[in-house]
Amino acid sequence: MPLRDRLTAQIAAGGPITVAQYMGACLHDPDFGYYATRPALGEAGDFITAPMVSQMFGELIGVWAAAAWELMGRPDAVRLVEMGPGDGTLMGDILKTIRHAPGLLEAADVWLVETSAPLRALQADRLGGRVQWARSLAEVPAEAPLMLIANELLDCLPARQFVRTAIGWAEQVVGLDAEGELAFGLAPTPVAGLLPDAAPGQVFEQSAAQAALGAELGARIAADGGAALLIDYGRAEPGFGDTLQALRRHEKVDPLADPGAADLTVHADFPAVMAAARGQGAEAAILTQGEFLARMGIGQRAEALVRAAPGRSGAIGRQLTRLIAGDEMGELFKACAIHAPGWTPPAFEEAE
Ligand SMILES: C[S@@+](CC[C@H](N)C(=O)[O-])C[C@H]1O[C@@H](n2cnc3c(N)ncnc32)[C@H](O)[C@@H]1O
Repeated sequence: MPLRDRLTAQIAAGGPITVAQYMGACLHDPDFGYYATRPALGEAGDFITAPMVSQMFGELIGVWAAAAWELMGRPDAVRLVEMGPGDGTLMGDILKTIRHAPGLLEAADVWLVETSAPLRALQADRLGGRVQWARSLAEVPAEAPLMLIANELLDCLPARQFVRTAIGWAEQVVGLDAEGELAFGLAPTPVAGLLPDAAPGQVFEQSAAQAALGAELGARIAADGGAALLIDYGRAEPGFGDTLQALRRHEKVDPLADPGAADLTVHADFPAVMAAARGQGAEAAILTQGEFLARMGIGQRAEALVRAAPGRSGAIGRQLTRLIAGDEMGELFKACAIHAPGWTPPAFEEAE
């Protein structure tokens, strides 16, 4: 467990680290981080995402992108960007779908923003030569409208956690227990006065990285036009709760048990992302995933797939339920659009 040893030594020498620092190390340490070394997506891996549940998800996002391009007045150059593209399934389904929108593929300059070398290799296998890669959004050339998609990216951007104790706010940190093992603890915080009022026991999460991405998208879209579609599990309203979670082979595991071996996430903080984007002059709107997919026509798409393959109706029905039912992904997951003033992307009318 080299990452545990490294973190233990670092904490012994320099004191406890924030939960955000711990998440960053577990996910992105270049030698031992989960995404840097061993991302395992899919049924045989650690977790499954919506594009892997059903082709319908990516197809409808392709339809969304094509309709957005039409509403934007069919610009003759557009940056079609996916951030955090995983195994490439989603972009594969998007590209397959937008072939049916005459002119869009020719206009689209397709970019994948990916930090993980092993996942870049998977994406290259799946998507071939049609795409280019960047390590950050800043590397994607500006001066053309942006059409950015990110599914389950915000949840892996690090967050700090604060706990309201009987005497005020403290920061949850990762330190060492009496045996020298990694353990959560509380530390005084200078930002206590900036945190919202709450009852003792409440946990407040704050992700500077999520807010920074919201601001970056807002500034870019306000300047160049276009829209971003961010889909993730998370809150639509400001709130409290400890959402730090580690997943390994589809099971929740102790986030401190084996650093770097599991995917580590927090809920997307959509109110903070949207406020940051609006602060840069963009507009923002949010729907539940179930409502977004329903408005994009997932019911009709499922019916068409069943007509084409009646023997698969049971499987298609289960996929539909998984994506839109309130007690599955339909309510917990949200779809958020950040867009330039003056137009509203498909499905988000009356959701501002
Ligand atoms: C949970 S996976 C989601 C994969 C895919 N979007 C899907 O729906 O199947 C998270 C993805 O984000 C990437 N990622 C994590 N942090 C990132 C960052 N700061 N910038 C860009 N990509 C990042 C990971 O390498 C991975 O491709």
